Amino acid sequence: MRKKLYALLILMLLSPLVADDEQLLKSAKRAGLKPIPTDKEELFALTDPKNVMTPDRVELGKQLFFDNRLSADETINCSSCHDLTKGGADDLPVAIGIKGQLNPHHLNSPTVYNAVLFERQFWDGRSPDLEDQAQGPMTAPFEMGMTPQLAEERINAVPEYVEAFKNAYGKDVKITFEKIAATIGIFERTLVTPSRFDDYLNGDMNALTKKEKKGLMTFIDRGCINCHTGVAIGGSMKPFAIADDFKFQDVGDFKGDINGLVKVPSLRNVTLNSPYFHNGTVVKLKDAIKEMSRIQLSITEIDDSELDDLVIFFKALEGRKPKIKMPNIPKKRDKK
Ligand code: HEC
Ligand code: HEC
Repeated sequence: MRKKLYALLILMLLSPLVADDEQLLKSAKRAGLKPIPTDKEELFALTDPKNVMTPDRVELGKQLFFDNRLSADETINCSSCHDLTKGGADDLPVAIGIKGQLNPHHLNSPTVYNAVLFERQFWDGRSPDLEDQAQGPMTAPFEMGMTPQLAEERINAVPEYVEAFKNAYGKDVKITFEKIAATIGIFERTLVTPSRFDDYLNGDMNALTKKEKKGLMTFIDRGCINCHTGVAIGGSMKPFAIADDFKFQDVGDFKGDINGLVKVPSLRNVTLNSPYFHNGTVVKLKDAIKEMSRIQLSITEIDDSELDDLVIFFKALEGRKPKIKMPNIPKKRDKK
């Protein structure tokens, strides 16, 4: 009898917790937060709308992503600024291209991880997808400094690449600049990083600790989810510096798109991607959160425990990276 009573008592004590847990999961979903699909088919449907991903194309795209041939002086490649062993970016405030050139707009390299989940690419959203986006850095004079013709000549001159393009697209393939960029885009579509937060959204109530759940609650209650939401926890275009001026607005000349909207960065892996903001001016994550609260939500008082909770929650967004085996880049031959 007594045992039964105890059991009942424990159940009564626990039940509000269970109810809170379910409530929180419901609020997260209501706020638009979505997991990266675990199901391969579903993930494909989400990440592969216009390109057919095949293993050959992914492998070829990976080679091109890491090949210095795609920069004018053959010194850098995509991974120079988007390091996949880190958070998918470069840890620098401002991107550095060929010949040590700093980005003239003082722009920070965003991560390529989960970029496939974004509605638009670039800080001002000027590109619709990864295939299109990849043309930009190759031809930017201060990044890789190529011309489309030079990229085509260089790749067509490598027998291993000609063979690989044929394998990937059929023997009549023409290796154009657009095809090169699109193939890199296909590789980038594989760069998604599901985290413990996704496990939680998929119904594993124990995937997050109590503290992380508290952080999630703060994230929802404080209104961050107005912009940092969806499967990318960001990725759409939103107004910036709504309630007050951004402290470092004058660093660089970036003003957003024609409507002043800025691409909301994904908060997936945000703990790995300091410095923050389009101009890389804020080093500490807590300072970035404080700045965000003030300028986007008019919250001037955010206490330390809330900041701690948010950072703890953000750590749970560090995802499981796909295993990237370094590709074999075709060797350079001596010119005859
Ligand atoms: C010199 C450093 C540098 C190199 C090299 C570079 N990038 Fe970037 N990348 C950046 C910067 C800076 C931005 C933001 C530019 C902007 O918004 O105008 C960016 C933006 C992106 C984005 C958009 C992500 C987002 O959040 O909107 C993707 C995707 C990307 N780069 C992929 C690539 C690929 C693929 C290559 C190789 C073809 C490449 N990058 C080469 C620095 C670099
Ligand atoms: C009205 C939309 C909006 C709201 C609300 C909002 N953000 Fe942001 N957030 C943005 C935009 C846009 C940027 C990029 C601004 C820039 O760099 O120019 C950003 C940037 C960030 C960054 C820097 C990320 C990086 O990689 O550079 C962090 C961290 C961040 N937000 C956290 C938060 C938190 C925490 C909250 C809630 C307290 C919040 N945001 C509320 C739109 C929003």
